[in-house]
Amino acid sequence: METIRGRQPCEINGTELHQRLAGYQDILLDLGTGDGRFVCKIAEKHRDRFVIGLDSCRENLRVNSQRKLPNALFVITSAQSLPRELNGLVSHVSINFPWGSLLESLLKDDACLINGLLSVTRPCAGMEVPLNADALSTAGWALESGADQIERILNAAGWKTTSRSCLNAPILRSIPTTWAKRLAFGRDPRAIRLSLQREQDVLVL
Ligand SMILES: C[S@@+](CC[C@H](N)C(=O)[O-])C[C@H]1O[C@@H](n2cnc3c(N)ncnc32)[C@H](O)[C@@H]1O
Repeated sequence: METIRGRQPCEINGTELHQRLAGYQDILLDLGTGDGRFVCKIAEKHRDRFVIGLDSCRENLRVNSQRKLPNALFVITSAQSLPRELNGLVSHVSINFPWGSLLESLLKDDACLINGLLSVTRPCAGMEVPLNADALSTAGWALESGADQIERILNAAGWKTTSRSCLNAPILRSIPTTWAKRLAFGRDPRAIRLSLQREQDVLVL
């Protein structure tokens, strides 16, 4: 799979990935990571966790992917074609404020994304999906009904909801992603966070 540090792409194979991950119990995958701020913050705060940020756009990752964090890695690919090297490894997925094709795939039950999520995660893996009103509106959905649709699709795929909460500006300010900060200080800070857990026995296609 293609990883990136600064401007430098680097292919790593499954063996090299396993060497990087050796000794880490918790492996987090941040889909649509943007500038990678969230990955760096979590990796700095939790040295015992390994955090993988994935985005289809390499430009935004130039700065943060240069940070020398032993427990962070940035992967360039689309969320609809998750690398096979990650299969069965991930204990927690975050999809923070998805937009564009990532959001479309969640709304349309895109098998490439939904099956990929099941392939890369372990049984009982957790998932956090904060969704914001403006991104859903651009995709043609109201906040509540868009969140309902995504929750329904994830539930049907074997992810049960553990909590669903409304986020406001003060809560958004406490979430360490660039987009959360933008929303918190923007004109429409409305957002809903879905927290889910993968059921034990889900058929992975
Ligand atoms: C609104 S930004 C959020 C970035 C970051 N999660 C944050 O909270 O600051 C959405 C991100 O999703 C990425 N994205 C959109 N579609 C994607 C896809 N199909 N695969 C991977 N990343 C995608 C975009 O490149 C962008 O960086």
